[in-house]
Amino acid sequence: MCGIVGYTGKKEVKDILLNGLKKLEYRGYDSAGVAIEVNGMLVLRRCEGKIANLEKIIHNESIIGTTGIGHTRWATHGRPSEENAHPHTDCKGRIVVVHNGIIENYISLKKRLEKEGHRFRSETDTEVIAHLIEKCMSKAKTKDLLRAVHLAVGYLKGSFAIACISLDDPDTIVAARQFSPLIIGIGKEEHFVASDIPAILEHTRNIISMNDGQIAKLTPKKVDIYDLQMKKVSAQVMNIPWDPVTAEKSGYRHFMLKEIFEQPRTIEETFRGRISLDPAKIFLETMDISTEDIKNIQGIVFIGCGTAYHAGIIGKYIVENEAKIPADVDVASEFRYRDPLVNKNTLVVAISQSGETADTIQAVREARKKGAKAIAICNVIGSSITREVTGVIYTRTGPEIGVASTKAFTAQIVAVYMLALYLGTKKGVIKQQHLSDMINDLLCIPKQIETILKKESLIKVAAHKYFTKKDFLYLGRHYNYPIALEGALKLKEISYIHAEGYPAGEMKHGPIALIDQNMPVVVITTKSSVYEKILSNIEEIKARSGLVIAIANKGDKKLEKIGVDDIFYVPKTSEVLSTILNTVTLQLFAYHVAELLGCDIDQPRNLAKSVVVE
Ligand code: G6P
Repeated sequence: MCGIVGYTGKKEVKDILLNGLKKLEYRGYDSAGVAIEVNGMLVLRRCEGKIANLEKIIHNESIIGTTGIGHTRWATHGRPSEENAHPHTDCKGRIVVVHNGIIENYISLKKRLEKEGHRFRSETDTEVIAHLIEKCMSKAKTKDLLRAVHLAVGYLKGSFAIACISLDDPDTIVAARQFSPLIIGIGKEEHFVASDIPAILEHTRNIISMNDGQIAKLTPKKVDIYDLQMKKVSAQVMNIPWDPVTAEKSGYRHFMLKEIFEQPRTIEETFRGRISLDPAKIFLETMDISTEDIKNIQGIVFIGCGTAYHAGIIGKYIVENEAKIPADVDVASEFRYRDPLVNKNTLVVAISQSGETADTIQAVREARKKGAKAIAICNVIGSSITREVTGVIYTRTGPEIGVASTKAFTAQIVAVYMLALYLGTKKGVIKQQHLSDMINDLLCIPKQIETILKKESLIKVAAHKYFTKKDFLYLGRHYNYPIALEGALKLKEISYIHAEGYPAGEMKHGPIALIDQNMPVVVITTKSSVYEKILSNIEEIKARSGLVIAIANKGDKKLEKIGVDDIFYVPKTSEVLSTILNTVTLQLFAYHVAELLGCDIDQPRNLAKSVVVE
């Protein structure tokens, strides 16, 4: 989705903007542009397509300015084109605006502004903001950009994160936020604004996350933040522990591959300091829920979107098995509109890598409105969701750049695992020996992932056999049912091959009709309480000439006797943690299939990293 970066300071801004925009490429976009203030003029350059095109346009131009804003656009209103690319200007070209989000009342605003004589040059909703600021300046007889933006946002309905510059207020950027993420970076005599941390991480790790309904004025010397009544508010500066290098490819062909390979470390980071073996204990006090509150919980609901939803299914299963609390799981966009039955004895657990997914934020608000307690499992410090809840379990994976989620997902599994054990111990339903075994199993996972990563070449060979297939079915049971969903989602996201994940027991109720000699079926067959049932499903597929790719534990004689087309071996662990090892295998399989097809793996078509609109 769209990305914003802005800078005001002493340095030349052109490269700061271009580099910042490149760091946001992963969010998905179809055009890009910058506006830079140069000696009392605004230099505006925009183009359709990739930032490389924009770079070509301005590479040899001497654009020497120290205040500017840039944008990557993911088309909503109007096709991807130079005219529709941001920044957008007012009639006189003295005010420029970049915008993320959707202005829902833009048609009526546009009509009114046109009647008043404003000339529009694009099909976008964003352009109304530039004209509104122009109108407010002239109506209030002011050149003060902050004041004009404050008046202008009063007309807007919908979601927005905006950054603007005006020639009448040099060295100044005014930014405003309503339901769309926006952060401010604090430097030495320089300030940044961006929609996402990686855009400015190489310059500063000191960040303010703006709240909804706030407006900020940035100059090289200071940042002032106001609420909608224009009362100055204080803001907390957070230090983001991410290393800028983690936002680089470091020699890997794609971010996705790098992020798959980071998993031994990111999983360790996620459990480090939160578990101990002697004595066996889980430390999740940051959740900020008292033991008494935990004892009063009557139900838990996990919510999330996409991959995060799959982690929620595992959450439901493990919380019921280990903490003995009835649990449910819902996709956030369904939960928020179905009038869910939650109350003060319900704990809602929102799972989100970015912490900015619009549906998940709204679902949390809905739950809290009904009195439920809410916590989050999230990867981005200070993101919107983390500010809507009472406690957070941070997955400490560093920035995830590949659009298809990988390392965030396996860290989310670790988080729900620790959560279930924590709740179970606080409720007194988990025996000490069992807890110790479960912690021990978790401690072994990073090394076990390494053994899978070492066998990447075998997965690549198998990908060669199957990459021309048009449809795939993924099957799993119990804890590995969500992994079948996730394996299928990874494949379709990055290779555009049609893939469906199913609970294996449901195969005979529909998908079996699809099976023939052209249909590869990926079956998760690692040892579990439902292992024998899965073997029967494999027999059913083979009886219909389907191709079977199994994920199994080494030495699986029964499976070898049945004879399948391919087997990926993974180390043995508990059933719940096998989800992590099986996921890594399926991530690599999807990656290599997509690579063979020549797909744009880190930025698959039509997808966005964080979906900040409904
Ligand atoms: C998008 C991404 C997915 C992600 C989902 C939820 O669809 O492409 O990879 O799982 O959003 O994102 P979140 O940031 O809330 O985990």
